[in-house]
Formats: sequence, structure tokens, C-alpha cells
Amino acid sequence: MTAPPQLAAQLQWAARGLQAVQAGQSSTDWLTTQCPPALRPGVQALLLTALRHWGRAQALRQQLTPKTPHPAVDALLCLCLALRVHEPAPYPEHTLVSQAVEAAKKEPRTKALAALINACLRRFGREREALMALTDRETQARWNHPAWWVDRLRADHPDHWQDLLAQAQQHPPMVLRVNLRRTTLSDWLDRCRQMGIEARPLGAVAVWLPQPVPVQRLPGFDQGHCSVQDLAAQMAAPLLLDALGPPPQTGPWQLLDACAAPGGKTAHLLERAGADAEVLALDVDASRLSRVRDNLLRLGLRARTQVADAACPDTWAEPAEVFDGILLDAPCSASGIVRRHPDIPWLRRPDDLDGLARQQRALLEGLWPRLKPGGFLLYCTCSVFRVEGETQLETFVAHNTDALRRPAPGHLIPVKAANRGSVGDNGVCEPDGFFYALLQKAG
Ligand SMILES: C[S@@+](CC[C@H](N)C(=O)[O-])C[C@H]1O[C@@H](n2cnc3c(N)ncnc32)[C@H](O)[C@@H]1O
Repeated sequence: MTAPPQLAAQLQWAARGLQAVQAGQSSTDWLTTQCPPALRPGVQALLLTALRHWGRAQALRQQLTPKTPHPAVDALLCLCLALRVHEPAPYPEHTLVSQAVEAAKKEPRTKALAALINACLRRFGREREALMALTDRETQARWNHPAWWVDRLRADHPDHWQDLLAQAQQHPPMVLRVNLRRTTLSDWLDRCRQMGIEARPLGAVAVWLPQPVPVQRLPGFDQGHCSVQDLAAQMAAPLLLDALGPPPQTGPWQLLDACAAPGGKTAHLLERAGADAEVLALDVDASRLSRVRDNLLRLGLRARTQVADAACPDTWAEPAEVFDGILLDAPCSASGIVRRHPDIPWLRRPDDLDGLARQQRALLEGLWPRLKPGGFLLYCTCSVFRVEGETQLETFVAHNTDALRRPAPGHLIPVKAANRGSVGDNGVCEPDGFFYALLQKAG
């Protein structure tokens, strides 16, 4: 295998990305705002691979050069060690080492230590087995997640924590939702076949692409014929709408999507309900809310949108305004989607979970009075931690005697045996980690 012409430059930029994550910036944000567009696809692939092996790479770096080098050198070394650990190896050893040295020479901060990088990577090649065995003893290296995260998962999911951590290292499946207001499933699948895109239906609107493709290549994407949305996220709209049933004679259901951006679930609600529902989509973040508007426009759907703090309805709703159904897809740790965003465990701090749980509680408490008696509130998070799911809901229901729990999947974790059939065993791909609870207000 020969090195791609830009490998040294890609390594240099991916190491910068790793440093940005270390400083607390999300990799998605860094890739879109700071990485040169021409290099982005290659840099993204290297950076995500490095993040999936970062715990191991840091422990190996520590063994190879116990004195912490300059952060730029540390990042380049860790990046290359992560690529060496990854299986199958993306590049032969000599290619990676020579390109790493080239990358080091490109920057004043790393130039002087190019020889150290060379020596460490070559020593890793010679002593690989011993170094892997040595670092296996460290929780962070063994599981490639911070130790506190591993401890928490072990406590929350005693039977599945190892599977969960292993799943988090996998490449995520690409799952789509076909917009039946613009096309039919069979027509859309036919167009995929004609374009040479393998697409397998997983349900009435869900489709799995065994080989991910850029969205612009999908048939009718710009015309709103499909959207990217994981199977777990596709459960929200049916759960809420099926609970509500057909709308009353008096008019469509009045729905609130309280934390709507970027609008995946708002759009699914509208695609599924059609004229049976009117939706108010809120988000506290104006720039994210504009993505809801863009998405709805692309899909040919309409909703009222408003920048607002959903936890304080008095600031955005009429005093007597109440809703038949509320979707609360609350801000959370995103611990259920680590395979899509492998920087998440490295960006979070242990205290974050309590802060997020407080925000979720404030949203639940703030919104509850705005639900009509008999109405339904669907609470969800893309988290596998119980404090953001089951524990949160148990506390809420204990303090609100008019909140009645109705059947919902609870914690969905991307491990087949654990979901007890609630997602349907499609035999091909696991859903993201999620939590769903459905509450009805006593009438
Ligand atoms: C998990 S995301 C929602 C994803 C969205 N439902 C979808 O399916 O595309 C959570 C959203 O909550 C928003 N948010 C956080 N705190 C909020 C608040 N107090 N009021 C309204 N939105 C809030 C964030 O800006 C973020 O866009």
C-alpha cells in the first residue's frame, strides 16, 4: 500500500484536531471551522480513528516517553500510535513512520522532536506485544474511555457495560428515514438500485445503507425524499403519535417539540402526522434553530419555530396555552452516540452528568403544567446513563402524582440481547443508545 499524497499533511492536521479536543472543542466543530476543506475527509477519518483509540494511545505514549512532551508532539505521537493499534492497520508501519516524521518536520513546534517521534514509533513496532499487555492493566487504555465513564457504565449496566464499551468503538450504521409525503419506500429503493446504492428496508420508513454514502449522492436528498436518522431516534414520533391516536373533531393535535434542533424528530412528527398535527418547535440556540427551518424547508414541511428556553414557558407561551402532546428530547451527555462522536467521552467531565440531570429536571418541571389533562409527554435522551433516564423519570413521577407512566422502551442500549425486542431485531444493525419514557397527565 502506498501512502496517499497528502498523508503527512493529513497527520499534521489530525494532530491539531486532537489538541483541539484536548482543549475542550468538539471534533465536529473543529473540522468544520478550522480544518482546510480540501483535507477534511482524510483528516476526519484519521481523527475519529485516533479518538477511538485515544486511551490506549495515551498510555502507550506514557510508556514510550514518560516525560510528557510538548502538546503538539504528544498529539502527533498519540495519533500515530492510535493508527498503529487500529485493526486492520490503515498503513504499513514504514509508511506511517516516515509520514509522521514528515509531518513533524512541517511544524516548528514538532520539528526538533521528529527523531523522538521516529524512535517511539519504531520501538512500538519492536515491543508491541509487551507494551499492549502492560497498558492493558489500565482501565482507560483497556476500554478507550475515561476511567470514571467506565465505572459509571459498569454500575448502570452490570450485565452489558463491556458490550456497550465495545459497541462505542464501532463504526456507526447509516440509517435513513424516507419521507412518505414526497415519495414511496419502494420507489425510493428502486432509485437506489438504479444508482448502484445498496439499501435495505428496516421498516415502514427506515432504510439501512451497508455502505455509507455522502447525503448529496442519495436519491432526492435535496428534494426532501429522505433524511439521516438512526433507528432509535425514529422511535420518537410513532411513540407520541400512536399514544395520542386520531385527532379530535375540533382540529389537529397541538404539539410542542421543546428541544427541537436540528429538527430530526420535528420533521418525523410532521411527516407522520400530516394535517393531524400542528407543531411548535422551540430551541434555546438560535443558530441551531435555523437548521430546523432549513430541514423543514428541504422536506416540504411546516411548523412554527421559536427561539426560547423551554423550561420557562411563561416567557414564550400565552398564560393559558397548553398542548396535547409534548416531545422533550432533552440536552444530555450524548453517551448513547459515542460511536458517531468518539470525542464525547473525552469532552465530558464527571460533574457534567449532575448538571445535565438538573437541566433535564428543570425542563420536565417547567413543561409539565403546559400539558393538557389526558395529554402525553414523551421524554427522551440519547444517553445510556440512568441519571439521565430511568432515575430522572422515577424522581419526577414520585414528585408529580398526576404523571402516569405508559408503555415505552426505557433504556435502549446498542446491544441486541438488552433491548428485549423493543426495537425489533432487524438482524443487521444496532440502534444508538437512547432512553424513552412516556407520561400521561391524569385527566
Ligand atoms: C438532543 S438535542 C435535540 C435533537 C432534536 N430533537 C432532533 O431530533 O433533531 C437537544 C437540544 O436542546 C436544546 N436545548 C438545550 N436547553 C434548552 C432549553 N432550555 N430550551 C430549549 N432548548 C434547549 C439544545 O440547543 C439542543 O438543540
